[in-house]
Amino acid sequence: MRVEIRFPQLSDAAAYYEAVTRSAEHIGRWNPVEPDALPDMVRRQGEALRTYLVFDTEDGGLVGTCNVANIVRGRFQNASLGYNSYLPYNGTGRMSEGMRLVVDACFRPQAEGGLGLHRLEINVQPENGPSIAMAKRLGFRLEGYTPRMLFLQNAWRDHERYALTMEEWPGAGAGKLS
Ligand SMILES: CC(C)(COP(=O)(O)OP(=O)(O)OC[C@H]1O[C@@H](n2cnc3c(N)ncnc32)[C@H](O)[C@@H]1OP(=O)(O)O)[C@@H](O)C(=O)NCCC(=O)NCCS
Repeated sequence: MRVEIRFPQLSDAAAYYEAVTRSAEHIGRWNPVEPDALPDMVRRQGEALRTYLVFDTEDGGLVGTCNVANIVRGRFQNASLGYNSYLPYNGTGRMSEGMRLVVDACFRPQAEGGLGLHRLEINVQPENGPSIAMAKRLGFRLEGYTPRMLFLQNAWRDHERYALTMEEWPGAGAGKLS
């Protein structure tokens, strides 16, 4: 693997600031650009939110961030994935590798250090080609279309809804990484 994942800690704040600032142009087209967000992100980690940072195994650089957000337990066991990748790793395939590790962790049982989820969603603006490519590369299915779903870039934006359940992910449920 060219990447590894782990939860954020306050000592990541400087690397996060630099990565987001450097990548502001491509992130800002689709997501808020918040270089100072890491301390608050660390504080908000809990039952409803787990964040994974993706690091390059060779040089230790921050490749990207994936929020596993809106975690709902009970009979749903569901969450939404939101992600950004950072320069200079953007478009090198590393974020896709990191996202595979994140999906593995989401479906791994909680007793084995995973999140024990059953279903994941990715909601993407229809014009966001790189993100749609990411969802499809991970095997997410297009389930539907949600008008005016999220307030981004000063407007309520329509989203395509992609989803994946544990049954569709090789190795899930057996506690193994694929
Ligand atoms: C969406 C986003 C996270 C995708 O990240 P990324 O950095 O492009 O991810 P990857 O590098 O893993 O993508 C793989 C791309 O790298 C290419 N690539 C280059 N070298 C590669 C390698 N060795 N292995 C695999 N893929 C490689 C692939 O061909 C692929 O390009 P393609 O989609 O044109 O086929 C990124 O574009 C981003 O941060 N966008 C702005 C924020 C955003 O839109 N977030 C999502 C909102 S829903």
